[in-house]
Amino acid sequence: MIDLTGKVAVITGASRGLGAGLAERFLERGLNVAACARHRPELAGDAGRVLTQAADVTDADAMEQLCAAAAERFGQVDLWINNAGLLAPIGPLRDNDPAELALNIQVNVVGVFNGSRAFIRHLHARGGDGVLLNISSGAARNAYAGWSAYCAGKAAVDRLSESIALEEADHGLRVHAVAPGIIDTDMQTMIRNSRPEQFPRVQKFLDLKAKDAFSSPGFVADRLLELAFDPAAADTPVLTTLPLEHA
Ligand SMILES: NC(=O)c1ccc[n+]([C@@H]2O[C@H](COP(=O)([O-])OP(=O)(O)OC[C@H]3O[C@@H](n4cnc5c(N)ncnc54)[C@H](OP(=O)(O)O)[C@@H]3O)[C@@H](O)[C@H]2O)c1
Repeated sequence: MIDLTGKVAVITGASRGLGAGLAERFLERGLNVAACARHRPELAGDAGRVLTQAADVTDADAMEQLCAAAAERFGQVDLWINNAGLLAPIGPLRDNDPAELALNIQVNVVGVFNGSRAFIRHLHARGGDGVLLNISSGAARNAYAGWSAYCAGKAAVDRLSESIALEEADHGLRVHAVAPGIIDTDMQTMIRNSRPEQFPRVQKFLDLKAKDAFSSPGFVADRLLELAFDPAAADTPVLTTLPLEHA
């Protein structure tokens, strides 16, 4: 395993679920971690290597402040992970609440713009290399009835990542939109609680639970660190999908 001691990662949406698991594993691997969510993340570990903030990704100034605080505490930011996301609303578009539709796009798309922008501006200011990982989904690449906002938002994450890759190719930034596999988080619980008339493919996710066919956050974390820092991963396409832990 590559020695990543002292590398600096920022993770959004780290109060629970995948983001909390990434932060935990990154700390075990020796990284310094700055983490945010609307509820301030509670991360165990060496307090000198952890910075947590209550920050909403829909607030561009809050993302700039998070980046500045991480750079001030740890010297610089090497890796930024836009992980914060939400699935709701579930159900046919005709029944969706307009405010919930708008919030989905605010968090899943505008939130990724905000985090990406803060990190890219930091890289330009310090004049160095960095890796931006935007957490996408299989739902970006395949349509699901009942998830129109989520599919649209994650497809936007894919395309905005490709645009950023073109813009920053000559400025030391590598960017990937990563479908992380399936991880048993609150989001999966919400999926399994859907009624078939809201989400016709719910049985597939009930079957995954029955088989316990999930990737652990620690497994996903190690794959993301390989993608970010292993020279052998440097030619990975912008749009990528992680292997499943129990494939
Ligand atoms: N779980 C899966 O199988 C799976 C599969 C494919 C892709 N993904 C993607 O992986 C990412 C993490 O998903 P998850 O399953 O861990 O979801 P989750 O369990 O619902 O956790 C979502 C995290 O995002 C944070 N968050 C939500 N809105 C936010 C906002 N406006 N500002 C800052 N933080 C916010 C939440 O914290 P607060 O409520 O405290 O803000 C929480 O920490 C998402 O982008 C999701 O789309 C997950």
